[in-house]
Amino acid sequence: MQQKRKTNPKRVIGLILLGVMIIAAAVLGVRVASLVDMTFVEMRTTPTPEPVAGNVMQVTPDPSVPTSAPVLRTGSQGEEVKSLQARLQALGYYNGEIDGQFGAGTKAAVMAFQRQNGLDADGVVGESTRSTLYSPSAEPYVPAETAVPAPTSASVPWIRADGLPLLVNRDSLLPEGYQPAELALVCEVCGEAATVKDSAMLGERVALEALTAMLQAAHGDGLTVWQISAGYRTVEKQQALFDEQVREYETKNNLSHADAVSATRLTVADPGASEHHLGLAFDLTVPGAFFKDTEQAVWLAANCWDYGFILRYTKEKEQITGFLAEPWHVRYVGTEHARVMRDEGLCLEEYISRYGRL
Ligand code: DAL
Ligand code: ZN
Repeated sequence: MQQKRKTNPKRVIGLILLGVMIIAAAVLGVRVASLVDMTFVEMRTTPTPEPVAGNVMQVTPDPSVPTSAPVLRTGSQGEEVKSLQARLQALGYYNGEIDGQFGAGTKAAVMAFQRQNGLDADGVVGESTRSTLYSPSAEPYVPAETAVPAPTSASVPWIRADGLPLLVNRDSLLPEGYQPAELALVCEVCGEAATVKDSAMLGERVALEALTAMLQAAHGDGLTVWQISAGYRTVEKQQALFDEQVREYETKNNLSHADAVSATRLTVADPGASEHHLGLAFDLTVPGAFFKDTEQAVWLAANCWDYGFILRYTKEKEQITGFLAEPWHVRYVGTEHARVMRDEGLCLEEYISRYGRL
């Protein structure tokens, strides 16, 4: 007779536990396998970044920064000068034309930039000026509010009530009855500093003293040949010069009277509209040479400001002054005003309209 096998309860429980463990292990195995699989897919589809040396940031070169580095100075021309003018304009230092001509306005803007950025203010764009100018830390222009002199208490006829220098042009004629403070003979004040075209030529004494100091400094720099070709002029004298030029255009150039007058007005002021009436304007020349191309012209454009003179008619400002450039014509305004005009690249019309309080 077959004996019925006795079921051991401990064994049953053991078998159940074993079954549960097998099922759990199977479920876990599937999940782990699928995670491994996903990671593998991701590794295949995400490109591995190139190794970077240290912590160096990769900088893309700015295409507006010139890569070649010519030294730019007065007389330089071309695309590099245009790019320089555009950069100075963007920083607020230059408000002239972007014409690629490095003239007095560009130089003034470069010098203002150099001053404001702690560089040697020589008006020349060499390596250090260039790298500062195109760096992100280049300081933009900040108007020198305090640099504009306060009204002077001295009663000087060519200083306006708001302390700015008197403007004389075709829109702002010489005030009726204007009297210079003290006219003096140019040859007596200037002595050996220059030859004087007309021994009877006069000028306002304070301006002649500044002119003499300026010419002596030029001598010190090796430029000894200077002629003073024009100084103080009466309204009658200006009328005679104006009429003479009109006649010359009519006779030598066969211009109609109207055309001759228009052409004359580009180089000779109307009577009553010339700065020469003040005795503060002088024409400096070099006998036998076209002044524009002389070393004296370059020196004058760079240095006149420090002696209180401004280059009154520049190419950059022709549209404002109404006169063709006259690199030989300087006007005395005093050093405080001259330096601000140089630093801010302003002609007298712009200076008055920016700071005038009348
Ligand atoms: N040549 C200058 C503009 C004058 O005549 O005053
Ligand atoms: Zn002149």
